[in-house]
Amino acid sequence: MRRAVCPGSFDPVTNGHVDIVARASRLFDEVVVAVGVNASKSRSRLFGAEERMEMLREVCAPYGNVTVAGFEGLLTDFCVEHDAQAIVKGLRAVTDFDYELQMAQMNSSLTEVDTVFVPCSPEYSFLASSLVKEVATFGGDVSGLVPPQVLERLLRRLAERAAEDA
Ligand code: PNS
Repeated sequence: MRRAVCPGSFDPVTNGHVDIVARASRLFDEVVVAVGVNASKSRSRLFGAEERMEMLREVCAPYGNVTVAGFEGLLTDFCVEHDAQAIVKGLRAVTDFDYELQMAQMNSSLTEVDTVFVPCSPEYSFLASSLVKEVATFGGDVSGLVPPQVLERLLRRLAERAAEDA
């Protein structure tokens, strides 16, 4: 049985992430979406870990072999704990490659795990959670970039933030 881990911050999950998870689910018997719960970055996040995982569970529900879990600490420890042989990472453009290669090599030096790079669909090559949040903050239309249930939560959270800051 081949099990892969799809790691990320997913703040929030975008259509680009869903594309990579869907393709990983066809390549592997089981896929665990691993949501990073890194304390040092948590203050800059729009959504808490539980909410990010909840959104992922909703959007990954159609994929029967995909589960969602949080992780803290090293990704390689999570891979060992979940008996995963591979990490799946989406590559949007060549600019992603240098950093992703460095992480892949570091991870495989820490434990026996390979990273499989999946080129993202061209329609998502510009997509990043950070840009989605920025565009939505200033009223831009991101309805084609995130799943509908994520859009609803995103707009609600940004409205709450705006009210808090007012
Ligand atoms: O969506 P992101 O922010 O690009 O996800 C980054 C993530 C969570 C995959 C990465 O930061 C990570 O693997 N963090 C766990 C800590 C770790 O293992 N660091 C060593 C990486 S070589």
